[in-house]
Amino acid sequence: MINGGRRLCGEVDISGAKNAAVAILPAALLTKGRCRIENVPDIKDVNHILEIMRQLGATYEKIDRNTIEIDGSGVKQWVAEYEIVKRMRASYYLVGALLGRFKKAKVAMPGGCNFGERPIDQHTKGFEALGAKVSLQQGMFDLEAEKLCGNAIYMDVVSVGATINIMIAAVLAEGLTVIENAAKEPHVVDVANFLNSMGANIKGAGTDVIRIMGVEELGSCTYALIPDQIEAGTFMMAAAASGGDVLVKNVIPKHLDAISAKLVEMGVEIEEYDDAIRVKRSGVLHKANVKTLPYPGFPTDLQPIVVTLLTTAEGTSMVNEGVWENRFQYVDELRRLGANISVSGRTAVIEGVSKLMGAYVKATDLRAGAAMIIAALMAEGTTRITNIQYIDRGYEHVEEKFGKLGADIKREKMEDEEC
Ligand code: EPU
Repeated sequence: MINGGRRLCGEVDISGAKNAAVAILPAALLTKGRCRIENVPDIKDVNHILEIMRQLGATYEKIDRNTIEIDGSGVKQWVAEYEIVKRMRASYYLVGALLGRFKKAKVAMPGGCNFGERPIDQHTKGFEALGAKVSLQQGMFDLEAEKLCGNAIYMDVVSVGATINIMIAAVLAEGLTVIENAAKEPHVVDVANFLNSMGANIKGAGTDVIRIMGVEELGSCTYALIPDQIEAGTFMMAAAASGGDVLVKNVIPKHLDAISAKLVEMGVEIEEYDDAIRVKRSGVLHKANVKTLPYPGFPTDLQPIVVTLLTTAEGTSMVNEGVWENRFQYVDELRRLGANISVSGRTAVIEGVSKLMGAYVKATDLRAGAAMIIAALMAEGTTRITNIQYIDRGYEHVEEKFGKLGADIKREKMEDEEC
């Protein structure tokens, strides 16, 4: 429940990156040693992946809220059934990790947010190039290799998941693997740095070409995750949406360049520090056109949030979705709050309105859920958001963080809540 209209002011600490965590935790299974991972966000997706790893035989200890020590020495099996992976798209990283370690893996096809078709052909192509036989049987992704051998792999589309998955599998392959047209997202670099700290030999992560020289084994390490680019962008846009003044702390400002530039174009003031960004807005919001693209472009995961911000900007804005085929399902919810948006294919046209009005809405997925929070902060009156389990998948203690900035937000258990 959110009572809108409050300016957000103060400081917020950004958590570790969800999309790095969900790859790095399974990648820790590549070694029989212990990996201590710091700055792990306390979110449902992390707890879920840890539970899957536990069921595979790994043990873990929570040293504190954000530090986890993983011991993969007890993992003896390479099969993850549908029942345990169904809620989580990122469970596909288990394929790379189990294939790398055991040279076989059997993992059910993942679930996750629905943005239209979500193919895995680039993952398959990479694993096959490394020498694995891949088949899909009764919804299970089944892979087996006598041994994995390095190879040159040209990615037909820029895929974060496939780039990371192939990198994870290739670190223990024989010889050199070269991934061309690789994804360059900050968490691709984070996974490479983590693997290198276990003893892998990966060069070029963060560029279009990643070179992985296989090593015989990996060992224990201690590693701290990078801050979450998308959570940081969410709070930056929330500050702008509420006409507030917020210092977004524990960030890597370089990762936020595309977001800062767009906010400046909209008339928002941005001040950059070494590891923080101050976002302040006192004037009106200007219209803007946005196209989402792989990094370093504007992130698709902030698309629902930037659309929300533009609902009350002066003039007509256009937002084009350049990554996913169908990521505008939440627009109906924004319309309930009074937004004027029309969608045609992958483009949304947003006519700025003078204000949004509180209403009952639902989170249709993780980032759309965060967009509903921001819309509710902007709206006059009370907004009730249901299906917030989506938000808990990826945002750590969300109402605490917004509450500390002055939002009137509380979590309630509703009798009629949809699951
Ligand atoms: N694609 C293919 N073939 C493949 C893989 C992907 O055609 O084998 C296409 C997809 O259909 C899509 C594009 O390539 O059009 C990009 O997909 P990508 O593989 O990069 O996405 P992903 O790895 O499945 C991750 C994030 C998403 C984020 C995308 C794009 C994780 C766990 N998920 O997904 O994050 O939207 O990259 O940046 O890292 C979120 O955090 O809310 C979220 C959905």
